[in-house]
Amino acid sequence: MNLKSHLIFTLYTIYGILLKVMASKGKVRGISGQYPLVQNVTVTEGGTANLTCRVEYNDNTSLQWSNPAQQTLFFGDKKALRDNRIELVRASWSELTISISDVTLSDEGMYTCSLFTMPVRTAKAYLTVLGVPEKPEIDGLTKPAMEGDHITLTCITQGSKPAADLRWFRNEKEVKGAKEVNASGKTFTVRSSLQLHVDRNDDGVAYTCRVDHVALTQTPQQATEVLEVHYAPRVEIIHSLAVPQEGQYLKLECVSKGNPSPDPVMWTKDGGELPDLDRMIVEGRELTFTSLNKTDNGTYRCEASNHLGTSSAEYVLYVYDPNALGQHGTDHALIGGVVAVVVFVTLCLIIVLGRYLARHKGTYLTNEAKGADDAPDADTAIINAEGNHAHAEEKKEYFI
Ligand SMILES: *[C@@H]1O[C@H](CO)[C@@H](O)[C@H](O)[C@H]1NC(C)=O
Ligand SMILES: *[C@@H]1O[C@H](CO)[C@@H](O)[C@H](O)[C@H]1NC(C)=O
Ligand SMILES: *[C@@H]1O[C@H](CO)[C@@H](O)[C@H](O)[C@H]1NC(C)=O
Ligand SMILES: *[C@@H]1O[C@H](CO)[C@@H](O)[C@H](O)[C@H]1NC(C)=O
Ligand SMILES: *[C@@H]1O[C@H](CO)[C@@H](O)[C@H](O)[C@H]1NC(C)=O
Ligand SMILES: *[C@@H]1O[C@H](CO)[C@@H](O)[C@H](O)[C@H]1NC(C)=O
Repeated sequence: MNLKSHLIFTLYTIYGILLKVMASKGKVRGISGQYPLVQNVTVTEGGTANLTCRVEYNDNTSLQWSNPAQQTLFFGDKKALRDNRIELVRASWSELTISISDVTLSDEGMYTCSLFTMPVRTAKAYLTVLGVPEKPEIDGLTKPAMEGDHITLTCITQGSKPAADLRWFRNEKEVKGAKEVNASGKTFTVRSSLQLHVDRNDDGVAYTCRVDHVALTQTPQQATEVLEVHYAPRVEIIHSLAVPQEGQYLKLECVSKGNPSPDPVMWTKDGGELPDLDRMIVEGRELTFTSLNKTDNGTYRCEASNHLGTSSAEYVLYVYDPNALGQHGTDHALIGGVVAVVVFVTLCLIIVLGRYLARHKGTYLTNEAKGADDAPDADTAIINAEGNHAHAEEKKEYFI
C-alpha cells in the first residue's frame, strides 16, 4: 500500500468520523421523534407490571431499562440482572418492554429507560404498587351482651396502601364510625370503632365492617358480627274475645319476649292457683276456658322470668250474662224511641212556626224594607235587612 492510498484511507476515516459527529449533532438539535417515551404504571401487590419504552424514530440505537437502584435490568434484549421475576416481553428498534411479575411493595420506585444516543436520553416511569388490605377483623364484642351495656366494636385492617377506608353497616344500613390511620412501614393499619349502647332491639342485628380500597375492584373485603343481647322478659296478654259471655270459649295468650327465652310462663287467678283445671287448660303460654262461667270472674295474671328478671301482665275477666246483654239491646231500642219522639216534636214545631211566619208575611217584609231604607248603599242595605230578618225571626220564635 503506497502513501497516497494510505492518505485517502485516512481521509475517508476522518470523513466517516465527521459524518458521525455531524449526525450526532443533528440528533442534539433533535431528529424528530428520537427520544424514549414511557408511562407511569400502577400495579397491585402480587400482580405483573409491564414497563414499556418506545422510540418513534430510531437508527438502531440501543434501549435500556434500569431499576430505582440504578441497576440495569435489560440492555436491548440482553438480560442484565439475575431476577426470575423480570422477563423480556418485546425488544425491537422502536420498543423495549419488560415485565416484572409477583410485584412486591419494595419494587415501587422510579424506573429509567435510556436511549444511548449522544448524549444519552432518558425517560422515567414511576411504578406504584398498591398494598392489598387484609380481611378486616372485628373486636370488642361480648357474647352475649346485656341490655344496657356500652360496647365498642373495633374493626382493623392491615397492609393497605394507600390507606383503606372502613365503613360500618347495621343490617345493611350505613352507620358512622370513628376512623384512625397508622402508618406501619410502607403500608397502613386502619381501624374504625363504633360505640353502641345495647338494647333489646340490637338482639340478632348484624354489624358489618367493609373495606373500600382501589386494589379491591370486585369483591370488597368485609367482616360481620351478629349481636346477641340478653334482656329481661316483657309480658303481655292477648285475649280472643272482646266481650266474654257465659258458655263461650276464651283463649288468653301470654306473649313474653325475653332472651334467653322465658319458658314456661305461670298463670294465677286473684293471686292463687287456677281453681278449675277441668275448664281452664294451660298449654305452653296459653290459658283456655272451654266454657266460661260467671264464677270465672277475676284477675288473671301470667308471669315469665329468666335469669335477668321477672315480668308479669294482668287480665281482668268479666263474664257477661248473655241475657243481660239482651236487656242492653232493649235499652238501645228505648233510647232510639225517645230520640225519634224528640225529632218528631221538633219537626212539628218547625212546621207550626213556618205557618205562623207565612201568615205574618206583611210585617216581615216591612221590617226588611225598613232596614234597607236606612242603609247608605245597597250592600249595607242587604246586611241591615238580613240583620233585621234574623232579629225578627228570633223575636217571633221567642214570642211563641
Ligand atoms: C404485559 O404484556 C404481556 C405481553 O404483551 C401481556 O400479555 C400482559 O397482559 C401485559 N400485562 C399487563 C399487566 O399489562
Ligand atoms: C437497523 O439494523 C437492521 C439490521 O440489524 C437494519 O436492517 C436496519 O436497516 C437498521 N435500521 C436503521 C434505521 O438503521
Ligand atoms: C409519574 O409519576 C411521577 C411520580 O409519582 C410524577 O411526578 C409524574 O408526574 C408522573 N407522570 C405522569 C405522566 O403521570
Ligand atoms: C396509632 O397511633 C396512635 C397515635 O397516633 C397510637 O396511640 C396508637 O397506639 C397507634 N396504634 C397502632 C396499632 O400502632
Ligand atoms: C257455672 O258454675 C256453677 C257452679 O260451678 C254451675 O252451677 C253452673 O251450672 C255453671 N254455669 C254454666 C253456664 O256452666
Ligand atoms: C262476676 O260478674 C258478675 C256480672 O256478670 C258480677 O255481678 C259478679 O259480682 C261477679 N261474680 C263474682 C263471683 O265475682
